[in-house]
Amino acid sequence: MSTVLITGGAGNIGSFIADQCIELGHDVVVADNFYNGRFRNIEKHMNSGKLELETIDIGSEEMVRYVFEKHRPEYVSHQASLMIMDSNKFPQKAIDTNIRGTFNIIQACHEFGVRKLTYGSSASVYGDPRVVPVTEDHPFDNRTLYGATKIAKEALMNSWAYSHNVPYVGFRYFNIYSERQGLGAFYTQVFQKWIHAIHAGEEIIMYGDGEQTLDLVHSSDAARANILALFNYDVKNEHFNVGTGIETSLKEVLAVIEKYLGKKAAVKHVASDPHLVRRRCASIEKIRNMLGFEPEVSVEEGTRMYVEHLIKGKI
Ligand SMILES: NC(=O)c1ccc[n+]([C@@H]2O[C@H](COP(=O)([O-])OP(=O)(O)OC[C@H]3O[C@@H](n4cnc5c(N)ncnc54)[C@H](O)[C@@H]3O)[C@@H](O)[C@H]2O)c1
Repeated sequence: MSTVLITGGAGNIGSFIADQCIELGHDVVVADNFYNGRFRNIEKHMNSGKLELETIDIGSEEMVRYVFEKHRPEYVSHQASLMIMDSNKFPQKAIDTNIRGTFNIIQACHEFGVRKLTYGSSASVYGDPRVVPVTEDHPFDNRTLYGATKIAKEALMNSWAYSHNVPYVGFRYFNIYSERQGLGAFYTQVFQKWIHAIHAGEEIIMYGDGEQTLDLVHSSDAARANILALFNYDVKNEHFNVGTGIETSLKEVLAVIEKYLGKKAAVKHVASDPHLVRRRCASIEKIRNMLGFEPEVSVEEGTRMYVEHLIKGKI
């Protein structure tokens, strides 16, 4: 069994990757600065002897080297990132974490002979899509700083990681959600904001007509894509969409939330921001064919699990 280093391992997707690696018998090292991560996402493993926590900032080359030197991971899943909202608020920090941090990880993977690196890109690279479902060869048309850092990450992988023999797989995640997420992801924050507000009997805000669509993927499915790629030596130096190919409108999301909470929402409609993407829908043919990936958790099931966590007081 091997050691897997997960940057951002206390976050939404990273903590599910940790769970799945531990289930497979691997040792896990979580590197996270808890900017948006939560200790409760990894707490259950803390005394298992299977997970070690390093509270570091990946923007620091010294701290990244320290962790690689100490744990000598064979595999790395790099999920640490500043999300859309915080990238707008703290642009320098976005560059430090998303670009410099990614470079630090690639360099360390090279220096310490890591066998495989997976990492999180984003559907943001496509901007507002010209055609749906979006295939991986859709042109980049990003309009955000966050998306720019994701394009930069991909460029670093395609050039520096490639030339330095670091086999990688990158994932253009669509709308990844679970009860473990913080408020950083712009589109999927409707889950937390709406579920918590409706549960508390508070008004929710719906931007625009509610017909905007998301391609919602449960974080456990996104984590499984990483697992499929990490231990597969035949597939390397590729980027894949991680979606379901199913569009769900905001109105439909709201209806599912209301169903599982057993409450109707008081909705305040406000004008939508024209910069917001109107449709998200991934083609998943490439990941299906090359990695055998199939999404397993439906929006209904993911929402039911979210609400169950809330009712049980776990979030
Ligand atoms: N959730 C989505 O809908 C979505 C969509 C597209 C792409 N992504 C990408 O997927 C990856 C994981 O996203 P997530 O949903 O799990 O988000 P998340 O915010 O829950 O996880 C990111 C983790 O990185 C940590 N982190 C942030 N800056 C750090 C730093 N400088 N050093 C160390 N740790 C740091 C945070 O504390 C957090 O635990 C990210 O790269 C994100 O950009 C997510």
